Amino acid sequence: MLPHPPLPSHYTRTEDKPVFVNQLFDAAAKHYDGITGWGFLGSGSAYRRWVQQRHGLKPGMHLLDVACGTGLMAVEGARILGTAENITCLDPSAGMMAEAKKKLPAKFVQGYADALPFPDASFDFLTMGYALRHVADLEVTMREYHRVLRPGGRVLILEVTKPASRVGNFFFRLYFGKIYPGLTRLFTRSKAARDMMHYYWETMDASVPPATVVEAMRAAGFAEVKWHRIMGLFSEYVAVK
Ligand SMILES: C[S@@+](CC[C@H](N)C(=O)[O-])C[C@H]1O[C@@H](n2cnc3c(N)ncnc32)[C@H](O)[C@@H]1O
Repeated sequence: MLPHPPLPSHYTRTEDKPVFVNQLFDAAAKHYDGITGWGFLGSGSAYRRWVQQRHGLKPGMHLLDVACGTGLMAVEGARILGTAENITCLDPSAGMMAEAKKKLPAKFVQGYADALPFPDASFDFLTMGYALRHVADLEVTMREYHRVLRPGGRVLILEVTKPASRVGNFFFRLYFGKIYPGLTRLFTRSKAARDMMHYYWETMDASVPPATVVEAMRAAGFAEVKWHRIMGLFSEYVAVK
């Protein structure tokens, strides 16, 4: 199950998607924190910490942060755990991980969510922040998440989801489709950063609905699968192995 159909303006064959996505994030990595900082009104760090705490991340746990990017989730995870010693960060983009490595002394592994290079039952808690749209296959990814978690382990996936209402959708489209990429270009003077944010919008717009993600989680064997949305926009998917 694809997280969204191929986007012909960027690639036509699904097997070309990872190369395209990797180049996109590598090229814009140094701008990512700045852009997400003002784009989400500075709420990013506090929200990332609050959501991990709320869904049960506790000191002593072994945390895997998939699609760690520049480390925004993992840094907040480390604050809760009191150490980065038990944190493993995974991402395919060397550029994004280079930024994360400046922030925390976690273990860094280059790889993809759909083929996790870890033994079965390795982690107590698995997070993925704003990257589910980039995986090759939802079901394969969920099976991998289930495999690497210990029994009783939890998965927490964050996403931005289009509002259900027409009015909400209009403003969402305007902000993420036009204003945010436009201001990104203006502030960073980087075409790569603008392209990253425009792709962010395109994938959100084309994404499968939350019910499909929930279904993929259940099909992978997860129990207590829940989805809810904060402020009509920020999706939280949680489940237990
Ligand atoms: C929008 S960033 C999110 C970074 C971070 N998790 C956060 O909360 O800000 C998306 C990240 O997903 C990564 N990514 C892309 N394809 C991936 C895949 N198939 N598996 C894992 N990560 C992937 C990108 O390299 C990028 O660092």
